[in-house]
Amino acid sequence: MTERERSILTQLVQEPPKFDEPMRHHTTLRVGGPADALVTVHTLDELQKVVRFAQERDLPLMVLGEGSNLIVRDGGIRGIVLRLSGELCRVHYDTQEVEAGGGAYFPHLLVKAAQRGLSGLECCTGVPGTVGGILISNAGTAEEFIGDRVVRVRVLTYDGTLREFARDEIRFGYRSSNLKELGAVIVGATFALHPDDPKAIMERIHRRWRYRWATQPVNQPCAGCIFKNPPGERAGRLIELAGLKGTRIGDAQVSTLHANFIVNLGQATAKDVLALAELMRKTVLEKFGIALEYEVQIVGEDG
Ligand code: EPU
Repeated sequence: MTERERSILTQLVQEPPKFDEPMRHHTTLRVGGPADALVTVHTLDELQKVVRFAQERDLPLMVLGEGSNLIVRDGGIRGIVLRLSGELCRVHYDTQEVEAGGGAYFPHLLVKAAQRGLSGLECCTGVPGTVGGILISNAGTAEEFIGDRVVRVRVLTYDGTLREFARDEIRFGYRSSNLKELGAVIVGATFALHPDDPKAIMERIHRRWRYRWATQPVNQPCAGCIFKNPPGERAGRLIELAGLKGTRIGDAQVSTLHANFIVNLGQATAKDVLALAELMRKTVLEKFGIALEYEVQIVGEDG
């Protein structure tokens, strides 16, 4: 990105962009090289200006949610990395629906909906993402998905126009959706919920939290499950059966708790993490003839 582009970008938004910002400070796995520009937008107007600017200048643009399902390579990200804040994180609770900004932090939304006696989001208990990130990856458990709760999604297209898609216009699959093809940024979404006793909903949430805490390395830097579950199988089970739990490359380690997680023991680089992930894939393919597919998003350039 040129100096001129940096200077224009700075004038488009109220919060000064961070240039050459190390992405390891913004990903839960704590790896990743610098982004040319990390831009936080607080209003729809700012967001539209930045998206149009990126389009005019042909600058790559990606949205960073919580960085919890993301591996950024060590060479970092060219172009603009966007973070949604302010009015783009607002949530409005109704009796049967919740309308949430794309940048809203999902764990807060889940608990606040439960306190208001609104059930339906529990399948994503413990997913530390934004509403936009959760929708793009159709997060959930292995059986239930957030896509099932969607009424409509509002996106900003690549030319900066606001568009709304109803549930039946969006394709949700297992840990996938076509939302990135429909627009550049998820601005907000409406979920259909149903009334229930707040105590009963919170109990279900607590049960799921306890399960995650017992089975996943939630207190270590990680990026969630690395691979999708193959049809009828569990990636974690296959990686464990392949004897890889605890295997290390540098400071990247296959979690000793859940084999489909890679944890950063301190100084891991994206190169270590990706070499370990490839070792997991290769070993499972050799032992079981099953080709694992990545679930985590991998972006950026090699270091
Ligand atoms: N298993 C093993 N070894 C392991 C891990 C799991 O044998 O190291 C076995 C377990 O014993 C269990 C089975 O595999 O019988 C399933 O394990 P788990 O309940 O942990 O579920 P999962 O299929 O591994 C899925 C989602 C998780 C979600 C959990 C809990 C995928 C790829 N993963 O994991 O989502 O949290 O269910 O509902 O679909 C994510 O998307 O990042 C993620 C963590």
